[in-house]
Amino acid sequence: MTDAFSYVDSHRDHFLAELKEYLAIQSISTLSEKNDETRRAAEWTAEKLRAAGLSEVQIYPTPKHPIVYGAWLGAPGAPTVLIYGHYDVQPVDDPEKKWVSDPFTPEVRGENLYARGASDDKGQVYANIKAIEALMHANGGRLPVNVKFLIEGEEEIGSPNLDHFINANKDLLACDVAVISDTAILAPDQPSIVYALRGLTYLEIEVHGPDHDLHSGQFGGTVHNPLQALCEIIAALHNPDGSIAIEGFYDKVRPIDAAEREAMAKTPLSEETWRTQTGAPHSWGEPAYTLRERIGARPTLEVNGIWGGFTGEGSKTVLPAKATAKVSCRLVADQDPYEVEELIRAQVKKLTPPTVKSLVRGLNHGYPAIVPIDSAAVGAAVAAYRRGFGAEPVFLREGGSIPVVATFYKVLGVPVLLVGYGLPDDGAHGPNEKYNLTCLYNGIKTSAALLEEISKLTPEKLRL
Ligand code: BES
Ligand code: MN
Ligand code: MN
Repeated sequence: MTDAFSYVDSHRDHFLAELKEYLAIQSISTLSEKNDETRRAAEWTAEKLRAAGLSEVQIYPTPKHPIVYGAWLGAPGAPTVLIYGHYDVQPVDDPEKKWVSDPFTPEVRGENLYARGASDDKGQVYANIKAIEALMHANGGRLPVNVKFLIEGEEEIGSPNLDHFINANKDLLACDVAVISDTAILAPDQPSIVYALRGLTYLEIEVHGPDHDLHSGQFGGTVHNPLQALCEIIAALHNPDGSIAIEGFYDKVRPIDAAEREAMAKTPLSEETWRTQTGAPHSWGEPAYTLRERIGARPTLEVNGIWGGFTGEGSKTVLPAKATAKVSCRLVADQDPYEVEELIRAQVKKLTPPTVKSLVRGLNHGYPAIVPIDSAAVGAAVAAYRRGFGAEPVFLREGGSIPVVATFYKVLGVPVLLVGYGLPDDGAHGPNEKYNLTCLYNGIKTSAALLEEISKLTPEKLRL
């Protein structure tokens, strides 16, 4: 292992230059005009898997963006590790002109590499690939375990084709443990293992009034404005205390027990830290829960966008025919994203006055996940972080969603390790996304150490 670690240390500049190439590819999965770039990112990923020493590298087409697969299965009897990540990135969307450097011209400033996808998730995928290269180099072209890579290009759009691929390729993907590097640690000197992720129900609410836009002077005062009606419906989806006012919404929410609340209180998120991270004047939400609990263990309902009527320059007096909002819920165990959609549908129907019509359209769904932390697999991750980051990891719940975690459990029946190398202030999805270089190099080391730690276990010990 010292060999693998010194390989990482002596290749820092090379790794940085190569990662910049990856980040320069504009693989924005939601924009079809970027399909060629997204394809190029898949090919780049495949090429690097091949170069790292994986033998069975293949690009599988899907109805949208391809899935990259690669494997090295030269350690019969040893555990098989499935490594998942995504090469697609979020759009740039920069109305406030906040990006300091071009999002697809990666630039190092201080300790960080700035680019879209630097942290989410190309930098972390890259760390996993380079761990293979380092181990291969240190062990004479062999790995201590069998390894399979599954790198998709549709994570940021809700992985619409991934579940089908996994269900149709159970043998190809058969493994003893799955590893995902797509989360954040607390700080470069404080690694953390994520043991819970939230699920998601994402939908669109449309409210229709008159069958065409009307002169607001001719009809104002007689028409229930769809934008107003939509705002009234949305406003009624929360109680004044920040809890959600949808009948049945909390029925399946698993309560946090006293022991877990105590454990969560050991990594508090202070109002002050929260304010620096968000730039908002004051926190908001369910008063009975701490900020950490609200993010990690409580469900939410958010308005992502709302539009309708006239939004152009100057003024136009108009009563719009229609108004739309994108609304999503973050879900926790044991909520079901499809059941939650039905609950929202019923509530919106109940809240819709006879003066307008409403329509709810489901867009995407992901299940929440909780990982048991007393497993042999988690023990290997703890040891790996200790070696890669030189510090004892803490356990954390995260508020984001990686729907494939639940699919790996259900379809492959294996433990999933959320071994991330991002940081909370990396700016994922936002302007000036960055990746800390210490996290990059220590991430490669941790990923290599993890495979070695897993090799000390038998497939039987790893499985749940
Ligand atoms: N890497 C994130 C998930 C994540 C975010 C984990 C924050 C931990 C903390 C992932 O790329 C992501 O953004 N997921 C989407 C999922 C959605 C599109 C189904 C999310 O959480 O919004
Ligand atoms: Mn991600
Ligand atoms: Mn993301």
